[in-house]
Amino acid sequence: MIVVSGPSSQLLSWKVGKEGGFEVVDMEYSRFPDGESYLRICEDVDGEDVAIIQSTRFDQDFIPLLQLIDACEKAHRIVVIMPYMGYARQDKQFKPGEPISSRAVARSIEADEVVLINVHSELVMNYFMCDVTNLDASKLLGEYFAKMNLSDPLFVAPDEGAISLAEEAAKIVNAEYSYFKKKRITPENVITSGEMNAMGRDVVLIDDIISTGGTMVEAISRLKEVGARNVYVSCVHPVFVKNAMLRLYRAGAEEIVFTDTIESFQSKVSVAPIIARHLKSLS
Ligand code: R5P
Repeated sequence: MIVVSGPSSQLLSWKVGKEGGFEVVDMEYSRFPDGESYLRICEDVDGEDVAIIQSTRFDQDFIPLLQLIDACEKAHRIVVIMPYMGYARQDKQFKPGEPISSRAVARSIEADEVVLINVHSELVMNYFMCDVTNLDASKLLGEYFAKMNLSDPLFVAPDEGAISLAEEAAKIVNAEYSYFKKKRITPENVITSGEMNAMGRDVVLIDDIISTGGTMVEAISRLKEVGARNVYVSCVHPVFVKNAMLRLYRAGAEEIVFTDTIESFQSKVSVAPIIARHLKSLS
């Protein structure tokens, strides 16, 4: 397997190569004067099994992914890894005339296999025209917290969609888990309900995505109200729009922990081990 790194996932691609013992090919990325993307795979991948790794956090990340797939046309097998898949939250049609945007994206990907990580909606997996694997990074987050000396830890999902993440991470620490019920009021604000036995305890909030931070801000406040000792905030995909990180710290987050599905030098947990393990299982 040869790793072909897209421009948005360079560090992660390198780590996957190191972890799995795969060659990571040299790349060239630039833009034409009119802003169009140019890229080149600097080594021959014809006849090889290739793993293209490119997160699609921004619209401008999609074109390089399509270019990479095209450049690997003569590869023996193409595995496309989208550690973060943008548009996955647009998984259904809510009003007539709307596209199913995640389906539009999925249909444009021509590969032998697609690998996603904690994709927001499993519906999205049905939209691809090839095999899809959805890897789970919750255990990696659990392992991070297992190394800390948390006091009577409680893992909490800020909404029902994140219950399995809280459950899986809690198992690693041998801790309890619980969840809030969430109602979204505006794109940036939510209200939650649900009893929480958090008095004097260290609580780890865990979600798939932090976007505006509204969900976590509400959950942090609720946990502080019921006497939580420290509230740690964690997620797989650090989308962090506008002042999300500041909102979280201002709300009382002790620490914010997230993976490198979206590249950031502040990621404390890498998803490279689960990607590398999956790629090894293919060879
Ligand atoms: C939604 O169901 C997701 O799991 C996240 O809870 C949501 O995307 C977080 O968004 P925000 O940070 O804007 O509240």
